[in-house]
Amino acid sequence: MWRPAQKIKWKPMPGVWPTREQARRSRLFSPIALGPVELATRTWIPAMVPWRATEDGFVTQDNIDWYARFAQGRPGAIVLEATGIRDVPSGPLLRIGDDRFIPGLRSLVDAVRQASEGETRLFIQVIDFLSIRRRPEPGRYLRQHLRLTDRHRTALAMEGAGDDAVREALVALPDERLAEVLDARELEALRLGARERVTDTYLPQIRELPQVLPGLFAAAARRAREAGFDGVELHYAHAYTMASMLSALNTRSDGYGGTLEGRARLPLEVYRAVRQAVGSDYAVGCRFLSEECIAGGSSVEDGMHFGVEFARAGMDFLSLSRGGKFEDAKPPAIGWASYPYTGRSGYECMPHHISDERGPYGRNFDPARRIRQAIRAAGYSTPVVVVGGVHGFEQAENLLATEGADIVGLARASLADPDWFVKVREGHGEQVTVCVYSNYCEGLDEKHKEVTCNLWDHVDLDPGGVRMSKDGKRRLIPPPWRRGPVA
Ligand SMILES: Cc1cc2nc3c(=O)[nH]c(=O)nc-3n(C[C@H](O)[C@H](O)[C@H](O)COP(=O)(O)O)c2cc1C
Ligand code: SF4
Repeated sequence: MWRPAQKIKWKPMPGVWPTREQARRSRLFSPIALGPVELATRTWIPAMVPWRATEDGFVTQDNIDWYARFAQGRPGAIVLEATGIRDVPSGPLLRIGDDRFIPGLRSLVDAVRQASEGETRLFIQVIDFLSIRRRPEPGRYLRQHLRLTDRHRTALAMEGAGDDAVREALVALPDERLAEVLDARELEALRLGARERVTDTYLPQIRELPQVLPGLFAAAARRAREAGFDGVELHYAHAYTMASMLSALNTRSDGYGGTLEGRARLPLEVYRAVRQAVGSDYAVGCRFLSEECIAGGSSVEDGMHFGVEFARAGMDFLSLSRGGKFEDAKPPAIGWASYPYTGRSGYECMPHHISDERGPYGRNFDPARRIRQAIRAAGYSTPVVVVGGVHGFEQAENLLATEGADIVGLARASLADPDWFVKVREGHGEQVTVCVYSNYCEGLDEKHKEVTCNLWDHVDLDPGGVRMSKDGKRRLIPPPWRRGPVA
């Protein structure tokens, strides 16, 4: 993963934990309405893919146990991991592209209700992503996948030569010469794996995204409602289709790119289709980027514009993340797909404890605050969820008190300790297992392995009673909290 030039080692700074009485009077543990849904507290577990679905996208018992364990901690809301809206194979990622996925998702909803005694609200993050191929073995790419053209023949001075001869000549070329003979997209396909972009409008499936996606998102949202979720979060963040539509790099000339209005057009059309499908009494919001953090990417000012437009359209909540793009991702190993959290933008999304002087805690706060202010200045009260390195009560409370957010998201901090919420609320903050921002969990995500935290995955191992990961070495869910005395 990318690291800043400065290598300052940061330790977690959870600050002073509140007594039960202080927690009871806090903003963090006060209720808030998201349109038709009320959260008991302003705490939120953002979407995190744990790699526990079946190969064909169904919910497993491990998924159910995972979310039930998080629900025992009683956060105000959990957002279920990014779940695909298309009915196409996408590996062990959850899917909602057909009615056959509804029963499994419904069991998951039931498990969360039961484990939180009805307190935690459950949203589902719905996602569309474009095709991305694994990084090929170079000989194979040059011999089989590269589409040969006259450009290659001319560059090699092999006009009139047969395909096989040209391909073998390419295989024999040193890297620097290959970089001259192949164009930028061919080189990308060779060195990173071919990746579709929303600007590839010469491809019918890309040209037709504006016609196809509103219906797909709407059908997914209708299924989410049927499965019992409290609402849907449209995934407009990171490296995926809708974030790419919003991106400053979206130069589509068909009315769905170029200007800020053009870039926001499909996300707004998708929202309207979803709203029509689920009705006005169902919570619908989106997650988008406060900044893309890549060269030429969207700025905070762009985020301010989008935030106001989404609020104006009637979204019930807006959740702000940052970075996490393919554009600056590191080349993956051969046979692996590019991972959008390996470059600088990935670092901004999930900063590591070895950081620069700004540190890993709250890098998203200032941009998110400006976006929230723009939304308020435009006259909308849409709740804004902010994440990024939150692990202490004072930090969260201060963010709310200074009007930096309406709801505070804890992703890795809740993975390190899903009981964070109940412990802090009950005056047991000193018993929280505090995330150290090692990104061990992110490394597992990158390798598509079951996500766990190394602060607990080797604790109280009892192979007789504990569900273990496929490699047999790690427990799959955190051990139960053994309560101590109240502060
Ligand atoms: C293992 C893992 C999986 C993640 N999966 C998703 C995802 O499915 N959708 C999403 O929007 N963000 C995802 N994220 C990003 C988190 O939601 C969050 O934005 C990020 O970790 C920063 O918050 P934090 O500093 O509280 O961890 C993931 C993060 C981790 C660590
Ligand atoms: S592995 Fe655990 S401690 Fe490390 S970043 Fe992930 S949640 Fe935090």
